[in-house]
Amino acid sequence: MAKYVCPSCGEKIETTGIVTVCPKCNADMAGVMEQSARALRQKAAELIKDDSVTTHEYIVRTRGLKRSYIMGEEEVQALRGIDLDVRRGEYLSIMGPSGSGKSTLFNLIGGLDKPTAGSCYINETDMAQLSAHELAWQRCRTIGYIFQTFNLIPVMTALENVTLPMIFAGMGSDEMLERGRMLLDLVGLGGRLNHKPQELSGGQQQRVAVARSLANSPAIVLADEPTGNLDLQTGKEIIELLKELNVESGVTIISATHDLKMIDVSDRIVHIRDGQVERIEKREEIDLEIGTMGGQP
Ligand SMILES: Nc1ncnc2c1ncn2[C@@H]1O[C@H](COP(=O)(O)OP(=O)(O)OP(=O)(O)O)[C@@H](O)[C@H]1O
Ligand SMILES: [Mg+2]
Repeated sequence: MAKYVCPSCGEKIETTGIVTVCPKCNADMAGVMEQSARALRQKAAELIKDDSVTTHEYIVRTRGLKRSYIMGEEEVQALRGIDLDVRRGEYLSIMGPSGSGKSTLFNLIGGLDKPTAGSCYINETDMAQLSAHELAWQRCRTIGYIFQTFNLIPVMTALENVTLPMIFAGMGSDEMLERGRMLLDLVGLGGRLNHKPQELSGGQQQRVAVARSLANSPAIVLADEPTGNLDLQTGKEIIELLKELNVESGVTIISATHDLKMIDVSDRIVHIRDGQVERIEKREEIDLEIGTMGGQP
């Protein structure tokens, strides 16, 4: 339950949602809401920062990363040798046509799949050297995942979905509930804690997924087409939310996308085609390009 004080009449207001006007004197509460949201974001940023402090400049490095699938007689080469360095705190977008290998790359970086050849280092640790237990711990603590289809658990409420990864990390139940509420507040869903996924809109479900990805203060958030199933405006809101988290808490964001809106918020864009890096654009170059196109991304 959040508590607010009316700046005009001093009335104390307790609510789980948003107050637009004071119920006693009708004064506008927008300023109070904004101030409280800012304080919340700051608190969240501090909490999220906690665990991600290490000194390596590159949080992810891949060298000669290959993944092929055997389909009967045929070999499908999904990745043909990817060399990629991702700086700590970077917002990196991976763009490429359907089938170019984006999800395959994500699954390897996220430790959900193993390469056919090459290496992937997280915080300079070769993932291939980790035991099954260490890998599971890394997946749980270092990396947050957001998927195109949200992948929430349908029988669980928003709060339960967000706190589930905290159970795996062994967090105590009071701390877990407080953090779950804080994260849902952070993504603007403080008033929807007990809604199940089907009782939420697509954009709200993806917000729950964003909150869930931050459950254990990950250093990296991997977002595989997070706006793929959302309308233009809702997609924009999710991108802005991710950017805000990236700037305020230093979480490294790696996002696979077809969405040109991502260009605006990315530090670099890696274009992949046929399982290979085709080119990498930096933010400054993108600004230049957008400039020459008369402001049309
Ligand atoms: N489990 C699998 N078995 C066989 N082939 C696969 C498998 N998973 C992916 N592929 C193939 O690997 C290639 C890369 O697939 P991937 O899912 O990484 O593409 P993507 O860039 O994420 O595409 P999209 O934008 O459509 O999501 C594709 O040609 C796909 O058919
Ligand atoms: Mg994909």
